[in-house]
Amino acid sequence: MRIDVTGLTKTYKGGVRALDDLTLTIPTGMYGLLGANGAGKTTLLRILAGLLHPTEGRVVIGGHDVTTQEGKPAVQRKLGYLPQNLGVYPDLTARAFLDYIALLKGLHNRSGRRRRVTELLEVVALTDAADRRLKGFSGGMLRRVGIAQALLADPELLIVDEPTTGLDPEERIRFRTLLSRLAGDRTVLLSTHIVDDVAQTCRTLAVLANGRLAFQGSVTDLVSVANGRVWTVTTNGPPPTEGRVVSALPEAAGMRYRVVSRQSPDLSAKPAEPTLEDGYLALMDQVPV
Ligand SMILES: Nc1ncnc2c1ncn2[C@@H]1O[C@H](COP(=O)(O)OP(=O)(O)O)[C@@H](O)[C@H]1O
Ligand SMILES: [Mg+2]
Repeated sequence: MRIDVTGLTKTYKGGVRALDDLTLTIPTGMYGLLGANGAGKTTLLRILAGLLHPTEGRVVIGGHDVTTQEGKPAVQRKLGYLPQNLGVYPDLTARAFLDYIALLKGLHNRSGRRRRVTELLEVVALTDAADRRLKGFSGGMLRRVGIAQALLADPELLIVDEPTTGLDPEERIRFRTLLSRLAGDRTVLLSTHIVDDVAQTCRTLAVLANGRLAFQGSVTDLVSVANGRVWTVTTNGPPPTEGRVVSALPEAAGMRYRVVSRQSPDLSAKPAEPTLEDGYLALMDQVPV
């Protein structure tokens, strides 16, 4: 399901302009929304989900404008949303919690609801933990419960806000794989400040910076922003002062620095292959503040 965002601006009470004339098209499939804390990601997602009204602009999702009275319910029927902080009832079991949310979402048929909850527990690999209380769940398990509740109405659009924050490496990988699997013929919009999450799951993405679109396109195109701008320098002396040091690794011959810089940071610097993180940093270096 395609999303067209046009001229979207959100100014909060108090004057913070969280989104500034944002225009963006999001195609079907897995899509990354990358940006530092405060870039405006949550604001955008809440507007897409119809939970927040923009100051200006339009958002058309699958042909319906979510910023209008008529369009909003039509979009919300097709949408699943996992907020950055999903509140759960710690004393409920996973099954009881999902059953409760399903009821709130209007799945009134009891046996149909039970079947759907059982099915979703299976999808997110929580069948074995289904009858345990949520208060004993790990961060990764809770995130999977969150995905299950977002999937209840089998949405064509799934929006997930910073779902991997605080997960350990195994849980992160597992969660990312789950999202990719869910993408298929639906749109999964993954918001994150972690470059690696996008690198491992998305082929296309947008980068937000200060409420504005800094980039939209393929992962390969973002990587190539850093072409000719990544260097390694091995030295016993002080770290390079030119450009941005992205890593420092001790080696026998001294410290090996990886630097993103327009100019060679040192006479002994060797050019290196850029990664997505390098592309993102090179992009940030050219974004006006
Ligand atoms: N309810 C609010 N009232 C005022 N300012 C807000 C509110 N929510 C977010 N902001 C501000 O808007 C900007 C964007 O925030 P947010 O959309 O949460 O970014 P992100 O999700 O990328 O971290 C930040 O400067 C933030 O402090
Ligand atoms: Mg956020």
